[in-house]
Amino acid sequence: MSQAAAPTEIKKGLEGVVVDESAVSKVMPETNSLTYRGYAVQDLADKCSFEEVAYLLWHGELPTKAQLETFTKAERSQRALSKPLLDSIKLYPKAAHPMDTVRTGVSYLGMEFTSKDEETWSPKDAFKGSPSNYDHAVTMLAKIPTIIAADYRCRKGLEPIAPKADLSMSENFFHMCFGEVPHKDVVKAFDVSLILYAEHGFNASTFTSRVVASTMSDIFSATVAGIGSLKGPLHGGANEQVMHMLKEVGEASKAEQWMLDALKNKRKVMGFGHRVYKTGDSRVPTMDKYGRMVAALKGEKKWHEISDVLKAVMLKEKDIHPNLDFPAGPAYYLMGFEIDMFTPIFVMARTTGWSAHVFEQAAANRLIRPLTKYTGAAQRPVKALAERA
Ligand code: COA
Repeated sequence: MSQAAAPTEIKKGLEGVVVDESAVSKVMPETNSLTYRGYAVQDLADKCSFEEVAYLLWHGELPTKAQLETFTKAERSQRALSKPLLDSIKLYPKAAHPMDTVRTGVSYLGMEFTSKDEETWSPKDAFKGSPSNYDHAVTMLAKIPTIIAADYRCRKGLEPIAPKADLSMSENFFHMCFGEVPHKDVVKAFDVSLILYAEHGFNASTFTSRVVASTMSDIFSATVAGIGSLKGPLHGGANEQVMHMLKEVGEASKAEQWMLDALKNKRKVMGFGHRVYKTGDSRVPTMDKYGRMVAALKGEKKWHEISDVLKAVMLKEKDIHPNLDFPAGPAYYLMGFEIDMFTPIFVMARTTGWSAHVFEQAAANRLIRPLTKYTGAAQRPVKALAERA
């Protein structure tokens, strides 16, 4: 039987490559828009809670009141961590990046919630089994914020604060971090950020999760891998870098020169550019609107004044638009979060998208295994150690 020649065309970074089908979200760069299961994200952000959006991503439809009640009850009842996990968080190195600690915490959850029985790892039907893959996704949705908040408190030498079941996910996260729930508009802005960060097609971390799921590994492993991928500054880590940049610029009067220098020095400016959107990120105006609301409440306009100048100069000089991380960074800072918490917050949100994609991958699985074009040494004989010079 003759063998077909291996394809040799390389698509660096898989740019422009359509790898699979997905019904979870649609990214439309031609109109700068994004829909989750057919609903525009702006619409979802204005009218829904993060919990409703999580339900939508996993079930394909927005919940009825009764369905939402069942869903939130399941999530709220699982927020607490086991004592061994909480004790282990207390032992994490205090100088570790919170993305590393949340990655380790989720890995620990995997040990607590998966069995050695490979049959249960990647069921074709996400809702089948006890616990099902869906149950695992709810477990992670409930416990990841608690891991992040407990680790934050431990790093500061404070006692973790137990979750409260009578609060929404966003309210509870503030409660677990700071011991209080802020003004409702701040909570709404945070909730909106989670909605906007929840899902975005075959981005790097989601693709990573799908690759892991395609080997029929378990959903915790897929999530741990997603977290590792999200950490990088070209992906989720950018929201932290944006705030470091705004602080480095310092004041609006210095922003124009700062940007011109950065561009002259061919510096990658964090929070700008996107692999798919080239004329604007659909999520930016919504996050910007809610971020400015928080700034007004806090009476702190500085970060938006700097942002406005940076954006205008970048557009004029390079026609490169801001991405979601650009308004999200200062919004989180104004809400009181330390900068290294920004990407872990992104994890809280994106765990919904990752799980939706793991369900989809498992339902119609094909091992993801691309090819490489070999550029190494030609085949050669192995010399015994004594013969090697
Ligand atoms: N700052 C400065 N220049 C940028 C830029 C940025 N943030 N983003 C893109 N460019 C420039 C590139 O240098 C390149 O210029 P060149 O043609 O003169 O070499 C051109 O725009 C095309 O960019 P490219 O790197 O091919 O785009 P990409 O699709 O590979 O990259 C990102 C997309 C997101 C990786 C890239 O825009 C980036 O690194 N952004 C900063 C990190 C960030 O905010 N990430 C979050 C993404 S949601």
